Parts: sequence; C-alpha cells; structure tokens
Amino acid sequence: MNLQQKYGKTAMVAGASEGIGAAFATYLAAEGCDLVLIARRLEPLHQLADKLTSRYHVEVTCISCDLASTSATQQIEKALQGKDINLLVYNAALSYIGSFIENSVEYHEKMAQVNMLTPLNMLHVFGEKMLVKKKGAVVLMASLAGFQGSGFLTMYAATKAYNRVLAESLWYEWKNSGVDIIACCAGATATPNFKNTLPEKTSFFAPRVQLPEEIPDECFKKLGKRPSYIIGRGNRIASFFMQKIMPRKMAITLMGNNTKKMYRL
Ligand SMILES: NC(=O)c1ccc[n+]([C@@H]2O[C@H](COP(=O)([O-])OP(=O)(O)OC[C@H]3O[C@@H](n4cnc5c(N)ncnc54)[C@H](OP(=O)(O)O)[C@@H]3O)[C@@H](O)[C@H]2O)c1
Repeated sequence: MNLQQKYGKTAMVAGASEGIGAAFATYLAAEGCDLVLIARRLEPLHQLADKLTSRYHVEVTCISCDLASTSATQQIEKALQGKDINLLVYNAALSYIGSFIENSVEYHEKMAQVNMLTPLNMLHVFGEKMLVKKKGAVVLMASLAGFQGSGFLTMYAATKAYNRVLAESLWYEWKNSGVDIIACCAGATATPNFKNTLPEKTSFFAPRVQLPEEIPDECFKKLGKRPSYIIGRGNRIASFFMQKIMPRKMAITLMGNNTKKMYRL
C-alpha cells in the first residue's frame, strides 16, 4: 500500500520550494498524492509544481504564505477552500548561527513562530480533522542539533528539540487513532539554505552531509513505526556515541566546539 492509499489523496508540505521540502513534495507526487505546496516565493513553487504535474500527473496547489505570520494557519485554511489534508509535512524552519545575546529578541521570537507556534497551530487544526476521520499522517522536521544543548545554534536547537518532543508525545497520544506522526531528525543536509551558511568540514569523523532526496524515503519507511527517527547511518552512529556513551556535558561541548569550527566563530 503506498502513502496515498494508506492516508488519503492530498499531502501538504510547508516550506516546499527547495531543499528537503522539495524532496518531500517530489516523493509524495511519485506516490500519487495531490499536493498543496507552501512557501513565501510563488515562482519556485510554480516551477516545482509544473515539473511534478507533468511527470506524475498529480494536482498541485501553490500557496504563498509567510509562516512567520501569527495568522499563517488561518491564511492557509482560507486558501484551501475546504480541501481536505490527509498528510502534512512541516518542513520550513528559521535558523540563526551565532551568539544568543547578539541576536535580537524579535528574531528569536520570529524563530519561535516559524519553528514552533505555526506547526503547533497547523497540528491542532489539521490534526483534529485527521483524528475525526481516523486517518492521516504528520511529519515534523527535527534536527540532531536538538538532541542536546548546541551553543551558537541555541534557539534553533531548542526549537528543534520542541518539534521532536511534540511529535513523540503525540505519537503516544494518537497511537490507536489512525493518525501517524513522526519527528524526522536530520543531520547536515546539502540544501540551498545549508550551503548558504558556508560550513567548513569539522573533522574526518563527522557524518557525511546527506542529500535532500535521501530524507523522505527513510522517513516514510519509519512513519507509523517510530515516534522519531534519525536519518542516515552516519548520523545514527554519531548520535549513539553522543547520547549513550558520552557524558551529556561532553556531548554539549563537542557540539558547541564543532559549530564554532564549522562557522569560524
Ligand atoms: N539543511 C540541514 O542541514 C538540516 C539539518 C537538520 C534539520 N534540518 C531541517 O530541515 C528542514 C528544512 O531545512 P532546509 O535546509 O531545507 O531549509 P529551510 O529554510 O528550513 O526550508 C526551505 C523552504 O522553506 C521555505 N520557507 C522558509 N521560511 C519560510 C517562511 N517563513 N514561510 C514560508 N516558507 C518558508 C522556503 O521557501 P521561501 O524562501 O520561498 O519561503 C523553502 O521552500 C528544517 O526544518 C530544518 O530545521 C535541516
């Protein structure tokens, strides 16, 4: 049974025009899902929509919406005009690399909106509809940065920890409801956003940087089976050492040192 047969016809990807979000959209189209794609810029969304429509003969709706807006969920609901959402991938995130204090509180709050409050709102609205129908699925993007304190990625890491705990908690609450949810925990992935940060390789032992296309396949194989899943063997090994072998203080220090080296801080 493919995803469309299991969960229903329409999947929505928030943050869909490039990188991991575009990879999720492409994977879902290949599974036969009609798509609702969300991002701020309509042009790259339309380009992706054209490609997916002609390749997979699915219906694609593009919505321009800033997920940093406190009314993002309401704007999306309005644009959907009653269309049912059977599978939701919340992918977009705002990040900041550098000193917590030097970044403005307004920007931290914007990160809280995009990374925590908008997914919270969307989960409440679309999750409730899925629960009523006893069928549906949600993927929340988390990150290895959220597995321990990650200095100089402080607020980003905290928001990613929130997404992981939110998905894991709802996995338990919704276990017998027909609605599956997973926190998809990625490590470094070669998205345009990641490449724009100009990262330096930190050590020979650092896990391989993954391609966006590797993420959806692994994630959907675990959806319905695991509350959260770390994508990529190298990331799982690194995480095993950092979470199970190293004292927490050492893991936090390693993460902070790596970030400083990676971004020349
Ligand atoms: N890349 C990595 O190394 C990595 C590692 C671990 C976890 N992750 C997680 O994976 C997810 C995707 O990361 P990514 O690197 O692909 O980049 P991203 O910047 O989080 O996502 C890019 C997509 O989101 C859209 N977007 C960004 N901000 C938006 C906003 N305020 N409103 C609406 N749409 C918005 C962008 O289109 P517009 O610019 O047109 O809006 C684009 O389509 C994130 O949740 C991130 O935390 C990434």
